Amino acid sequence: MSHAEDHEGTRRDFLYYATAGAGAVATGAAVWPLINQMNPSADVQALSSIRVDVSGVEVGTQITVKWLGKPVFIRRRTEDEIAAANDVDVSSLPDPIARNENISGDAPATDPNRGLLPPGAEAGTDSEWLVMMGVCTHLGCVPLGDGAGDFGGWFCPCHGSHYDTAGRIRRGPAPENLPVPVAEFVDESTIQLG
Ligand code: FES
Repeated sequence: MSHAEDHEGTRRDFLYYATAGAGAVATGAAVWPLINQMNPSADVQALSSIRVDVSGVEVGTQITVKWLGKPVFIRRRTEDEIAAANDVDVSSLPDPIARNENISGDAPATDPNRGLLPPGAEAGTDSEWLVMMGVCTHLGCVPLGDGAGDFGGWFCPCHGSHYDTAGRIRRGPAPENLPVPVAEFVDESTIQLG
């Protein structure tokens, strides 16, 4: 698939989810906090764990899977993407918190604190794997990926939020980094969400 075709597919995905997101917001302010906190009801929680085969994900590409009714981005990053993410002073970030459900809630938004370690990798090291909810933290559109935006990561065209190669908000109205959900590798090529 050419890059252009790939990009076109991303745009279609975006339009679909953007429409769905606008509908959810329009139903009232009371609905939004539930979505924003990813706090599904008990019956949804019973189905809240899925496994994703990532054996076909090449370095420098990503897949989007649907989980709990929302898109989840799973990207296998290049060394350049990881280096770019590390080349940032965390204290200068709009949101310096990791927003990673797998670690402490006040952990800083360093690149190792955002990535998902494969089996056998040493804790605290960089990972090429990045798993995030694909929902803009501004008003819930689905950002474009594959290097979109001014920081080589993701871009939400709804109101112009730029996320970097670690999914951290760098510019625009989004208040927080793209959240990292509960996730782990259960074997060499399978990621479990939830
Ligand atoms: S919803 Fe993404 S910038 Fe507003």
